[in-house]
Amino acid sequence: MNVNSMPYRTIWLKENDDAIVQIIDQRNLPHEFNIEDVADAATMSIAIEDMHVRGAGLIGAAAGFGMYLACLEASQTIDFQKSLKSSYEQLKSTRPTAVNLVWALDRQMNAIEQAESIEAKIRISLETAKAIADEDVAFCQRIGLHGLEIIREISKAKPGQPINILTHCNAGWLAFVDHGSATAPIYAAHDSGIPVHVYVDETRPRNQGARLTAWELAQHGVPHTIIADNVGGHLMQHAMVDLVITGTDRTAVSGDVANKIGTYLKALAAQDNDVPFYVALPSSTFDWEIRDGVAEIPIEQRGDEEVKYAQGLCDNKLTRVLLTPPESPASNFAFDVTPARLVTGLITERGTCAANEIAIRQLFPEK
Ligand code: MRU
Repeated sequence: MNVNSMPYRTIWLKENDDAIVQIIDQRNLPHEFNIEDVADAATMSIAIEDMHVRGAGLIGAAAGFGMYLACLEASQTIDFQKSLKSSYEQLKSTRPTAVNLVWALDRQMNAIEQAESIEAKIRISLETAKAIADEDVAFCQRIGLHGLEIIREISKAKPGQPINILTHCNAGWLAFVDHGSATAPIYAAHDSGIPVHVYVDETRPRNQGARLTAWELAQHGVPHTIIADNVGGHLMQHAMVDLVITGTDRTAVSGDVANKIGTYLKALAAQDNDVPFYVALPSSTFDWEIRDGVAEIPIEQRGDEEVKYAQGLCDNKLTRVLLTPPESPASNFAFDVTPARLVTGLITERGTCAANEIAIRQLFPEK
């Protein structure tokens, strides 16, 4: 996607220096656009854990490149395997909910094990990192085309009028390598001339909606309105939302969907008001081992400072302010699980299916 008319991905190899991975550091967006050099696996682990990079697809791509950097480092040690395994464990411990993390790490481990020499291991880890990133781009593009059909269908009932779409958090291109999952159909509809308007949940505590989704949509010229997290139910009761599309960090084979905290409440409101609630995901976000999402998907808990403080511009300087009584404790569950019964459909790179095991396995019979 474009930033000030320049095309960007969220992660790439530095030009003329194959030992450096570059990322867009998302922490200070939309006020500062910073590019960070990452030269080792430990720095990539910090970048994932502290959310310089974030979003399921991008976490997977960052883990893929992290394993490539881990191979480069391991090649300078006396015990390649021990060093690689230690980087793998460190990367794996960063964020528990997004399944793309462990999916990418295991894919890298399996690929690296196939090679015999250290040179071949390095080469194959780079090829795999690039393949994970390129696949992510291609899959999101296809999600966009499948989701476009849903928007097109809804638009037939209100020709010429904007389709109002509510989204939560950021499942845009910043959460992937490019295009995004939940936003890909929105960009596709906008680009094909269907008028769309997006209600963007602010998404406390880290404000991924207000900071990132709003910035992305503005960069692409998509009409949007930021709303406080509690507004969606009211809008749905007053027929101001035609469709909800969110992303997901881990989807069980049953169709239960883990996504940013607050998604479940939007799904409940959507069902109560007959608003279709779709979840967009590449197949790398399915957890084929888990059926009961509520019981089995690990929910990340983050530091209470994310709830107690907010960051923004003050007199043109990035500033962090305390919102709460300093002594009050706060809890910070980062995700919740929306049961499959509340999900109208899953938009994947292979098409849209119902949120149940039979339909999911029909689309992905090899799993
Ligand atoms: O904590 P984050 O910002 O990494 O969480 C991301 C989300 O939960 C997004 O909503 C998204 O749907 C999943 S990533 C495609």
